[in-house]
Amino acid sequence: MNDSEATFFGHPRGLATLFFTEMFERFTYYGMRALLTLFLSAAVATGGFGMSEQEAGAIYGIYTGAVYLFCVPGGWIADRILGQRHAVWYGGILIAVGNCILAIPSGHDLFYLGLMVIVLGVGLLKPNISAVVGALYKDQPGYRRDAGFSLFYMGINLGAFIAPLIAGTVGEKVGYRFGFLAAGLAMVIGLVQFRLTGRYLGGAGLEPQMHGAEKTRNIRLALAGLAILVAAAVAAYFGLIRLTPSGLAWQLLIVMAGIAVVVFGGVLFFGGLDAAEKKRIGVIFVFFVCAALFWAGFEQAGSTFNFFARDYTDRSWLGSWFEDGQHPASWYQSVQPIFVILLSPVFTWVWVALGRRNLDPSAPLKFGLGLIQLGLGMGVMAIAAALVVSSHGKVMPTWLMLTYLVHTTGELCLSPVGLSNVTKLSPPRFVGQMMGTWFLGAAIGNTVAGLVGGEVGGGSAEAMPGQFMRMLFIGGGAGVLVLLLSPLLRRMMGGIR
Ligand code: PHE
Repeated sequence: MNDSEATFFGHPRGLATLFFTEMFERFTYYGMRALLTLFLSAAVATGGFGMSEQEAGAIYGIYTGAVYLFCVPGGWIADRILGQRHAVWYGGILIAVGNCILAIPSGHDLFYLGLMVIVLGVGLLKPNISAVVGALYKDQPGYRRDAGFSLFYMGINLGAFIAPLIAGTVGEKVGYRFGFLAAGLAMVIGLVQFRLTGRYLGGAGLEPQMHGAEKTRNIRLALAGLAILVAAAVAAYFGLIRLTPSGLAWQLLIVMAGIAVVVFGGVLFFGGLDAAEKKRIGVIFVFFVCAALFWAGFEQAGSTFNFFARDYTDRSWLGSWFEDGQHPASWYQSVQPIFVILLSPVFTWVWVALGRRNLDPSAPLKFGLGLIQLGLGMGVMAIAAALVVSSHGKVMPTWLMLTYLVHTTGELCLSPVGLSNVTKLSPPRFVGQMMGTWFLGAAIGNTVAGLVGGEVGGGSAEAMPGQFMRMLFIGGGAGVLVLLLSPLLRRMMGGIR
């Protein structure tokens, strides 16, 4: 059997290369993320930065938001300059280097530099590795591609599942810096694996789309962008621009909203689209808003819920393994990914079974259901928080797990559906840009999740039930609204399912 005939669960062998690269990359991302807010808010004496929860939440929001925001230029650079495979490679190197910088026991400046390097790295790697998956299936039928992407999503969640158990435990129980190092090492393994098995990818994603003068112009543009970033970082370092974490998080949100307006406005008004195409862009816009809202709740996993695990969850189960009698709070970061792994085959089966009877819910319906489940999860948290207040103590881990379960079923209604519908609904020449808006939605959601997490984690226990109830009304209310609008949205989709 030669290289191109070898298979991975019946898929091209190259999928295994990408599966494991993304598995290790997500290990690094989620392993580090599980520790981030805990580290920032830990007392200096215990190796943390001694920040308030507000500050920690804001930095979490800026970092996770920036990571996905930079996926937009990351895709652009791959298309026009590097080619996707090289973007994955160099992105991975930046991620490994950035995490090693975090592992150096030093002050704030070096830590922020590490975060910035990771942001650039994930921006280069994350969007482009998916694009290479797509390229592997260039000449294959759609259902094979969907199956390939499902397998790939398993790789994402496998990494996200294992990371908090290893890097989280090391970070919380041995030392935060060692945790960051453990996270970074995973990316190194991923890179070695990518290099050694790269031949199985054939020519997929090897060459950029543009050459010659056009490419030179693009390189200049990219370098100019990088120069602006470096100048801003240097100015901040020397105190020429004054930045506070929450101020910067808000500014970032405004910039991202501005980008959304420019991208959607540009395509709608200057894209030369006909009426039917404009309606579909309108649907993508609604999906974008829903996605931002959804991730704003869901991604509180690393902020609000991480603090809740630390402060209000009884972690004595297996606690005897650890000196302080409590298992690490970061373990709960593994709950959502394992639910994804267990439940995505069930969801695929349900959608297919319903599809056979012509009952498969439309994409807007699934979006509405996703948001409603997000709200329900917040309702569970409101009850858990009320119990914390009434008992003046800690609650069982089952509450967090139940919230994560409902949030994950919501994710499975919304996330895969969103991605495939964006590609189906946008006119072919704007697919790249519209994919970018999907990451932009995630970026906005993550930043909001950080800000909200700071508010909740830094507030009193008494305030929590009310805060979670408000999230229930916002998420659930938006979900009901989308359900009501779904007939209209379906008409606007114009026959695309
Ligand atoms: N679990 C997903 C991932 O890590 C979360 C995500 C959704 C990220 C959408 C970006 C965009 O890939």
